[in-house]
Amino acid sequence: MPVTAHPAFNKASFYFKMKLIRVPVDPNTLEVDIKQMRRAITKNTCMIVASAPCFPHGTIDPIQDISKIAVEYGVPLHVDGCLGGFLIAFMDKAGFPLKPFDFRVPGVMSISCDSHKYGFTPKGASVILYRTSEICSHQFYALADWPGGIYASPSIAGSRSGFLIACCWATLMYYGLDGYVEETRKIIQATRALAQGWSKIDGLYLLHNPDVSVVAVGSKAFNIYYVLDGLRERGWHLNGLQNPAGLHIALTQLHTLPGVIEKLIEETRECVAEVMKRDNTNDTPTAVIYGTNQKVPDKSIVCDMAKLYIGACYNTTIPSSSAKNAH
Ligand SMILES: Cc1ncc(COP(=O)(O)O)c(C=O)c1O
Repeated sequence: MPVTAHPAFNKASFYFKMKLIRVPVDPNTLEVDIKQMRRAITKNTCMIVASAPCFPHGTIDPIQDISKIAVEYGVPLHVDGCLGGFLIAFMDKAGFPLKPFDFRVPGVMSISCDSHKYGFTPKGASVILYRTSEICSHQFYALADWPGGIYASPSIAGSRSGFLIACCWATLMYYGLDGYVEETRKIIQATRALAQGWSKIDGLYLLHNPDVSVVAVGSKAFNIYYVLDGLRERGWHLNGLQNPAGLHIALTQLHTLPGVIEKLIEETRECVAEVMKRDNTNDTPTAVIYGTNQKVPDKSIVCDMAKLYIGACYNTTIPSSSAKNAH
């Protein structure tokens, strides 16, 4: 899979003890290197992944080219449409035509779309589509001789909330096809307006032209994380990117409200002007985190730190001073 595909795949291959090969992207275009992707295929390859679009840069991988490799080697191609699945499906109708990314492309065997992102539904239900019911059947598990009866389960998750599935259904019905097309139109328009605005700010450059709803920028003139932290101080919580350093935003319905994009462009311009005035020695929180990560060659140390943080969040030990106060 391209190195830009979501870490959910790294996590799954870790759980299932499968070897994952990450294919680099071209450092300038940030598009996956198709030649290296072909070279990565071995007799053990069981799946190829493409994103539509990927989270970091919002790029839609060249699905038709990747499909040719998939068909040639008889390997199923999975399209990760988790982030933008509920936009790309409506972009043609909204007036922003895309190249085919779905089952129209012969190698594509499965597609995922998160309904809780641009489907606007609550989290807890999602969508995986298979080209055939035969492929789908591999997802099911059944056990016939359990004393508790015949057990059958459709997915890795066991008990699931019917409430969330009902809420998902109700949301889909509420928007309907026309509603989704309209929201897609507004979000894509806002995305393009932001990309245009940011690209005109001196010192910033677009990491990739937005294919869907993500705008990602970097800088060759200053430490981009200063801008990220400056925007955070103004109430904009954008994401930091690395390799290359950058920041991005995935636009949502909220950003389509009147004046929001204009305000974001203006406040980004202010942050950039501040950074340009400073001598760039004043490290801000994100600059420190990513700067340190760059300097640590053994990434397992960084992973250990991240896991320590999660562990601390789960820790239920009550500090002795608050334990006393609790009585
Ligand atoms: C492109 C993409 N793929 C997959 C996922 C799935 O993530 P999760 O493991 O949270 O369901 C996400 C979530 O942000 C995503 O953006």
